[in-house]
Amino acid sequence: MARSLTKITDLTADEVREVLTLSADMKSGKITPKSLEGKSAACIFTKASLRTRISFEVGISELGGNALYVTDNEIKLGQRESIADAARVLSRYVGLIMIRTFKQSDVEELAKYASVPVVNGLTDLVHPCQILGDYLTATEHLPGKDRYRVAYLGDGNNIANSWLNLAALIPLDLRIGTAEDTQPDSDIVTKAKAKPDSRIVITADPKEAVQDADVVYTDVWASMGQKHLADEKAEKLKKYQVNSSLLEGADPKAVVMHCLPAERGREITDEVMDSPQSVVFDEAENRLHVQKGIMHFLLTH
Ligand code: CP
Ligand code: NVA
Repeated sequence: MARSLTKITDLTADEVREVLTLSADMKSGKITPKSLEGKSAACIFTKASLRTRISFEVGISELGGNALYVTDNEIKLGQRESIADAARVLSRYVGLIMIRTFKQSDVEELAKYASVPVVNGLTDLVHPCQILGDYLTATEHLPGKDRYRVAYLGDGNNIANSWLNLAALIPLDLRIGTAEDTQPDSDIVTKAKAKPDSRIVITADPKEAVQDADVVYTDVWASMGQKHLADEKAEKLKKYQVNSSLLEGADPKAVVMHCLPAERGREITDEVMDSPQSVVFDEAENRLHVQKGIMHFLLTH
């Protein structure tokens, strides 16, 4: 079975560092590997995307490969044939599969039966490429720290779960400010708390979450597939909005992150998103570099 990235914890801590170094070296132009030379890569999307689609397609091209955009209209994952058979067939054509879909178990099934690397481009449970890129962004803006204090405000979703997965590997002081019934995944929380070098706090108090934070992070309150719950979630999560007043509690040098797309005026104000502390577009750029790092790592291990 090829190495895949279905979640950050498919990697070891040393491998996370290797992926980040590869990504930074590709970003600076120090290395220009062509690990997809002469190959195609299938990019399967059953949800919408701007950043993930374009950064994967560009990244695949920069690694020498050819990207194939496949929607669920064609592939009908798990409906026309089993996911296992689709994985076996795709592996005969392409050198790598990237998939964005709803169920984490579908991505894990694809990875189990594919003989080429499978990369998770977001599920309802996790978004590993995003948080690896965000960690790279944090190291660029706040160099020299061996443990970041990260405040995540808002819905306990795939982004919160991925920060927790990273904390299970890399020392982090992670404080999640969220409501009682918008909590992150309990198994993922337990595993992160078991990492002795990380400190995990989950609190209903947004000020406690943000206190002295190096990174203040938020995401949409209603993720893809949950947009019908948007008003209900907004009511529960409105006190976790990242605005100037909340940001005052963070470290003065703190950076503000959002994976995007943002719903300006809901989880984050224009004032904060457009402030000098905001690094949201650097995060978006780093999706390209980190995905090249991930793909190159998986193709060469
Ligand atoms: N952040 C992110 O994954 O963006 P897209 O949904 O546009 O791919
Ligand atoms: N939590 C969001 C992230 C989008 C990149 C979603 O799943 O829609």
